[in-house]
Amino acid sequence: MELIYQGLEDGFKSDPPQHISRIETIYGEITEKGVTALYQSLNFHGKHFIDIGSGVGKMVIQIALQAGVKTSTGYEILPSRFQVSCQALKRYQDLNPDGAKVGFFLNVSTGETNQFQDPLLDLSPYDIYFINNLLWYDKTNQQLAEALLAVARPGKTGILAKALVDLNRLTTQTTLEVEMTWDPHYRLTIYTFL
Ligand SMILES: C[S@@+](CC[C@H](N)C(=O)[O-])C[C@H]1O[C@@H](n2cnc3c(N)ncnc32)[C@H](O)[C@@H]1O
Repeated sequence: MELIYQGLEDGFKSDPPQHISRIETIYGEITEKGVTALYQSLNFHGKHFIDIGSGVGKMVIQIALQAGVKTSTGYEILPSRFQVSCQALKRYQDLNPDGAKVGFFLNVSTGETNQFQDPLLDLSPYDIYFINNLLWYDKTNQQLAEALLAVARPGKTGILAKALVDLNRLTTQTTLEVEMTWDPHYRLTIYTFL
């Protein structure tokens, strides 16, 4: 991980285009230790993983390197962070030509961060959805819940930083403590779709 991200921007300094407003300039991440705790507690083996709001892509790359997934995908709205994830992807591919498949997508559909309706994003192929949505707008979170419910299938897993009551009726829930950059003991909500 260190080699892949050496010298790259860390995502904390952001230079948002004008249509992207204040809240997305605040950044936080799940730490490397936090990601390790996550894949040691849940079964990622052979799965298709997506991080919705992937920042500079660190979690996506770490999951690809260490968790035994088939594919690991990131989806991000801020172009500057997306660009860093693409630089990291190039290094990942050079170092791991036979590793898990990794891809990053930029959310360009609305140009507005308080929207999550993206006709270009197909959420159906994934098994595990991670969303560090603590600072997302209520409206975005509600649209996110609708998007997840639309692709809900038994056995799929949603891992959310901010619990969404809309998901309760089609899931069972647990929590898991992991390290985040802003809190060493942060409780994620884990939803298993029924
Ligand atoms: C707290 S960061 C999480 C980074 C990474 N997933 C992690 O946990 O380490 C959340 C990211 O979500 C992005 N984001 C916010 N709204 C979004 C949207 N509607 N679509 C895609 N990404 C979004 C932000 O730009 C930010 O980089």
